Amino acid sequence: MIDLFEPIACACAIEVPEAHRRPIALVGAGAIADLAHLPAYRQGGVEVVGLTDSDTARAVEVAQRHGVGRVYRDLDELLSDERVEVVDIAVPAAAQPEIVRRALESGRHVLGQKPFAPSSDVASDLVALATERALVLAVNQQLRFDEGMAAAHEMMRLGWLGEVTSLTIAVDIWTEWTLWPWMLELDELEVWNHSIHYHDVVRWFLGEPERIYSTAGRTPGQAPRGETRTSTSYTYASGARALVCANHENAWGDQRATFRLDGSHGAVRGTLGLLYDYPRGRPDTLEVASSVIGTDGWVPYPVTTRWLPDAFLGPMASLLAAAAGGPPPRTAASDNVATLAVVEAIYRSIRSGEAETIDRNRSGEMK
Ligand SMILES: NC(=O)c1ccc[n+]([C@@H]2O[C@H](COP(=O)([O-])OP(=O)(O)OC[C@H]3O[C@@H](n4cnc5c(N)ncnc54)[C@H](O)[C@@H]3O)[C@@H](O)[C@H]2O)c1
Repeated sequence: MIDLFEPIACACAIEVPEAHRRPIALVGAGAIADLAHLPAYRQGGVEVVGLTDSDTARAVEVAQRHGVGRVYRDLDELLSDERVEVVDIAVPAAAQPEIVRRALESGRHVLGQKPFAPSSDVASDLVALATERALVLAVNQQLRFDEGMAAAHEMMRLGWLGEVTSLTIAVDIWTEWTLWPWMLELDELEVWNHSIHYHDVVRWFLGEPERIYSTAGRTPGQAPRGETRTSTSYTYASGARALVCANHENAWGDQRATFRLDGSHGAVRGTLGLLYDYPRGRPDTLEVASSVIGTDGWVPYPVTTRWLPDAFLGPMASLLAAAAGGPPPRTAASDNVATLAVVEAIYRSIRSGEAETIDRNRSGEMK
């Protein structure tokens, strides 16, 4: 069985070959740059030549702690540094489109954060600009590189599950929203800022749904204005279905974050380790049962890396591979436009109380 897992482990390994490495610079030195981007890039041998943040004291402190050589006064100074070939962004979503646009116009490849844009229309315009300039534009939807998820996807791709009929992601956790004061004021919170990862991997596994039905809720006395519980079901032309349930108001210590994929000849089930003790977390768990490979019941797959920081190398590694002439990034912005269209359909469904179809002509601005 261990031998059977070897190709899975190889498919999940994230590496940046010497020939792909290009100097990058970061816009935004907040929590996620500090905890995930910079440690992951150091692990992967990606050179960060400098960073900027509108809070200069924060930028200096983070740069010193991670050994980043240069702090730029602002985006203009960053873009005037000719060494910088890739701009990596980690700022609140509302500020991102303008930074992406300016970086692309200056000829840089760009890795944007999730959510990539406040609407699929804005995202499409940025994708068009990148295409016109022949630059690589990708999004940090790094759950596609998290080892538990990536291994499950590879098992599905190899046919171990037969025809996939169902995907369920269920998250019941406490999220300390006050760590992000700017999120407390958002009318639409949970899906844009958290569950977008799950909705992105649902598309990665199952493709484009026929219909989506979603409900949302709040807890009396909660700190943020927006929704903190959502539940979304997807139906597909094939008869497959997916379910994503996320509750961020579990104040009782029994954090839980599970995923499960069922098919005609097998199933995988796992946990997202990060969410059991954010941001430290633990590695995911993953088990597979399959008549295709002949398991005797459920067999554990040995996950050895973490969502945070390890998976954060993935989007950058795949952007750098694409910039070196390889295939489009796994999290290409051109693909992410469809994830944003799903998010828009989810909020339409929450408002209408009806199942919605994905309508690329009805973009709904983030609120
Ligand atoms: N991919 C993921 O899994 C993941 C995880 C956490 C956060 N995020 C996303 O990353 C972004 C940042 O999150 P965070 O947790 O680091 O937030 P944060 O509030 O800790 O940090 C944001 C930083 O951006 C800086 N900033 C704001 N506007 C700026 C601008 N125009 N130019 C330069 N700097 C600016 C702020 O000063 C701050 O230091 C958000 O969009 C968030 O949704 C993604």
